[in-house]
Amino acid sequence: MEENSLNTAAAALRHQVEAASLDSAEELEHFRIRFLGQKNGRITRLFKHIPQLPPKERRDAGRLLNELRTFARAKLEAARTSVTTEEAAVQGLDLTLPGRSNQWPGSRHPITQALAAIKDIFIRMGFAVAEGPEIEDDWHNFTALNFPVDHPARDMQDTLFVEASDQGTGGVMLRTHTSPVQIRTMLAGDPPFRLIAPGRVYRNEAITYKSYCLFHQVEGLVVDTGVTMADLKHTLFGFARAFFGDDVRLRFRPSFFPFTEPSAELDVWWALPEHPKGGRWMEILGSGMVHPNVLEAVGVDPERYTGYAFGMGVERPAMLRYGISDIRTFYENDLRFLDQF
Ligand code: DAH
Repeated sequence: MEENSLNTAAAALRHQVEAASLDSAEELEHFRIRFLGQKNGRITRLFKHIPQLPPKERRDAGRLLNELRTFARAKLEAARTSVTTEEAAVQGLDLTLPGRSNQWPGSRHPITQALAAIKDIFIRMGFAVAEGPEIEDDWHNFTALNFPVDHPARDMQDTLFVEASDQGTGGVMLRTHTSPVQIRTMLAGDPPFRLIAPGRVYRNEAITYKSYCLFHQVEGLVVDTGVTMADLKHTLFGFARAFFGDDVRLRFRPSFFPFTEPSAELDVWWALPEHPKGGRWMEILGSGMVHPNVLEAVGVDPERYTGYAFGMGVERPAMLRYGISDIRTFYENDLRFLDQF
């Protein structure tokens, strides 16, 4: 091909490019392939003639074709923007709106935050952190904790049984408390022990604003020589002041648990402006001196060692700390609730 005929071909192509209609996504694609396609695009193909021209003509020819290609690409890009915007408008989108800068990046669940705060306080008091399985056997969950078979204390902790129990013993269940972790850690080592055991527990509960069938506990266990109830009370009150603030109102009250003797519960005053008495006591944990039968069950000499234990819920302290009035909101995954934390 000579330079003249290349010029003529380029001029003709320019007319075709100018005349092409680009009103839809299909027309855009058709245009791109027809003129700019890598192999057979009409403009692309003209470039292939340049090497056949006499050397001194190649430069001008190259410039001419480059200019034609730039022109075709610019036309394609301009049309692409308006077609995309129009199609978006048809779908109800306005691409000219400014972007959103107030996206919520997510946050940790309030239970996770409360658990972290509880762990943090006990770790600073020198406690180690232990864990145990959520599916537990009858011996660890009840028998070793001094719940005799058929003892009515078992009724308070009904749960989902994975394997049925045989005459009241030998079943496998979703654990009803974190206390079996006391048994597992004492069996695995020798005193002294000083640990907490956080985790999930399950109960057959009537579901209300303060009870749910699944919840979290943090167990505590200290076994050493010369441990007394005064150590227990000091630790629990120290914890409560660190978690709720120095002005928290506390009540330490006698109670019963098969695995502790004596036993006590800790209540925290829950201020409720609408309540006739201005608030109510909320039980947050059970505790006591580890029963000698429990120490014996795990091979620790009760004549030599004494210990205290406690088991606290996580949901109720979290409700008090964050001002939440219904435990069920923790499990509903409603972002309007969760994004407040
Ligand atoms: N395991 C008991 C419960 O779930 C709570 C508890 C009470 C744990 C006294 C303890 C304890 O370690 O000493 O109701």
